[in-house]
Amino acid sequence: MVRSSAVQEFLNAAEISLKRVTGPGADVAQAVMTRWKDPRASHAQPTRLPVCDWIVPALAMQDGHLARSFARIEAQLSWGRRKHADLANLAFWDGHANAVILGPGGLEERNDVWVGATVMAPGVLYPDHDHAPAEVYLPLSAGQWWNAEMDWTDPGLGGFIYNPPGILHAMRAGPAPFLALWFLPI
Ligand SMILES: [Fe+2]
Repeated sequence: MVRSSAVQEFLNAAEISLKRVTGPGADVAQAVMTRWKDPRASHAQPTRLPVCDWIVPALAMQDGHLARSFARIEAQLSWGRRKHADLANLAFWDGHANAVILGPGGLEERNDVWVGATVMAPGVLYPDHDHAPAEVYLPLSAGQWWNAEMDWTDPGLGGFIYNPPGILHAMRAGPAPFLALWFLPI
């Protein structure tokens, strides 16, 4: 099994950023990097939502290696709404999309790690949610993160957010589009 060069380049860039994670998030970063060493196959088909039009403008605001390598794989991803998205919250319904890069439905079908991306239109709030695995986010744009132990925070490009296992958390876009990567060992 050979990994596509575009995916390998993206993971190489992600490793540079993940190695900068400090504190309890460093264990999460190390775990995902260890688990993705062996490539896996995929049968994912690309899908897109209108909100994905914000990806290019979000990426245009920077020129990092991680952003450039993500730009080369984003059109291959299967972008969709969060499973529990509610049509009653139209701003969120129309204003967000998630895609799995490594994991179920991703560019590598696997169940030891989830790596993915979230895009949101300007001003959109990603509502409170939780999940059992701990998580590290790497921002690819401006944006704010909240969790039950942390006030709203923008870590900035090159920064990271750590969410402990099971904690309630949320994100929101400011006046610019929001784009971020998430990494969970499962
Ligand atoms: Fe999360």
